[in-house]
Amino acid sequence: MENKELVAKALSDALDGELKAEDLVNKIERPKNSTMGDLAFPTFILAKKFRKAPQQIATDIVEKINQENFDHVEAAGPYVNFFLDKSKYSANVIETILKEKNDYGKNNDGKGGNVTIDMSSPNIAKPISMGHLRSTVIGNSVANILTKNGYKPIKDNHLGDWGTQFGKLITAYLMWGNEEDVKKDPINNLVKYYVKFHKVDKEKPELDDVARDWFRKLENGDEEATKLWKWFREVSIDAFEKIYKKLGVSFDTYNGEAFYNDKLQGVVDDLDKKGLLSKSQGATIVDLDKYNLNPALILKSDGASLYITRDIATAIYRDQTYKPAMNLYVVGSEQTYYFKQLKAVLTEMGVPSAKDLHHIPFGLITVNGKKLSTRSGRIILLDEVLDDSIEIAKKQIADKNPDLPNKDEVAKEVGVGAIVFGDLQNEKINNIDFNLEDQLRFEGETGPYVQYARARAESILRKSGNTDFSASKKQLNDAESWNVIKLLNDFPQRVKMACAEFEPSVIAKYSLRLAKAFNKYYAHTKILEDNDQKDARLALVKSVSIVLKESLSLLGVKSPEEM
Ligand code: ARG
Repeated sequence: MENKELVAKALSDALDGELKAEDLVNKIERPKNSTMGDLAFPTFILAKKFRKAPQQIATDIVEKINQENFDHVEAAGPYVNFFLDKSKYSANVIETILKEKNDYGKNNDGKGGNVTIDMSSPNIAKPISMGHLRSTVIGNSVANILTKNGYKPIKDNHLGDWGTQFGKLITAYLMWGNEEDVKKDPINNLVKYYVKFHKVDKEKPELDDVARDWFRKLENGDEEATKLWKWFREVSIDAFEKIYKKLGVSFDTYNGEAFYNDKLQGVVDDLDKKGLLSKSQGATIVDLDKYNLNPALILKSDGASLYITRDIATAIYRDQTYKPAMNLYVVGSEQTYYFKQLKAVLTEMGVPSAKDLHHIPFGLITVNGKKLSTRSGRIILLDEVLDDSIEIAKKQIADKNPDLPNKDEVAKEVGVGAIVFGDLQNEKINNIDFNLEDQLRFEGETGPYVQYARARAESILRKSGNTDFSASKKQLNDAESWNVIKLLNDFPQRVKMACAEFEPSVIAKYSLRLAKAFNKYYAHTKILEDNDQKDARLALVKSVSIVLKESLSLLGVKSPEEM
């Protein structure tokens, strides 16, 4: 049980149930100074109800309360201070973790409900940028956190694989491209053709007509156009998957925008039937005045569909296919206004999951002060950043632990982990500037710091030779272990909080705190010293290892056994 719940229950019993535990739980405070207890209850909030002085209420409660679960309970002015029974408490926490292992902290709040997560969603024939990195790693971690809370996430990569730009790309490829080059290095070469198209197009505007023609052919299912488009899509996905593999992220579906082409007419008909469409300067729109939003443009004056038309079809498809408890979009904050419009249109249409549509926005990312762009100029490619990071990790390992077995594997886990953790430890909405060297430090607020703490725990366990930690009868009650134990006990509640806020940083920050507390414990305690507490200390170390590993795993970061 949560400590606050334990206290609330004891209080409620002492008050003969006149106040329910659920109502008391939020009133319980954590005193700054532990001489005033681990938890405290302010009695002045009951003064009016009981028509008694708060001091008197505090004394009365202490007289009646069942002290069984506490070291002791005392009245101090208008407070009841609770001192947890350290031995009993630590035994409980550690026993629970050792029993539940990586299931520790799991709950069933989601009751198996489906949650669709729109994540990563890069545009084909273009490189994955660091911006897509954020969507990928935040989405992946949110999915892990949802699973831990009893939901069933469905990760959908909503690829940008449709639009007039494919007419341009086909035109450019047929003029300057060749198959071999595309096979060798698909994304870079496709980008090259596309960039060239725009350059040449400035002098030869008639190219635009050719491109428009190709897109029309593509829309009409022309064989050659479709073959090329499919091929561009395939080679792009292959290239993306190499990066996803490096990041350790997978998807349930790759239903890109084009998947919805045959469902667009249905959307327009449905909107029409519901009387939601109107005309504006030849275009077809949904008026969103009553939401204080600009109208949503559904069809251009030439009848072409738009990004939002496909997103409406997508949301309806997800609604009908999965009956989701929530429909989430992990997309940069520059699309916040857009998702308000999307939600408003779906609400007007009466789509059931519209009320549970959440845009999960995030801020911009720069690397060593450099902006990321796919249009022109300097492009920072995610793949290169990952490789650079792995290189730095390799050097560090060569410095610190040159005899480490499977060095390359560990360098990958550390290098990639540093980037993922470096992203996720920030509250999503903040802009971040990445400094690779900083993110890879083994000291400080980094992923490798947490990985290292966990590897250190494992190394102690290996040295001890213990394999069975269940028989740790003797319990810990020293001050150093106390901080660690209290943090371990916090984990299930952090798991809930991270889920309620779609905020992986809750877990990342928690893991940093636990790693720090553990390192302090390690510095102050002779863990392997032979005495009657040794087994209990090792059981604590094992518990820390389990919870650190599980925290990292919720973030999508690996835990090397040794580093
Ligand atoms: N492909 C878009 C981009 O790179 C992101 C798509 C986000 N998802 C969506 N359902 N609109 O900006």
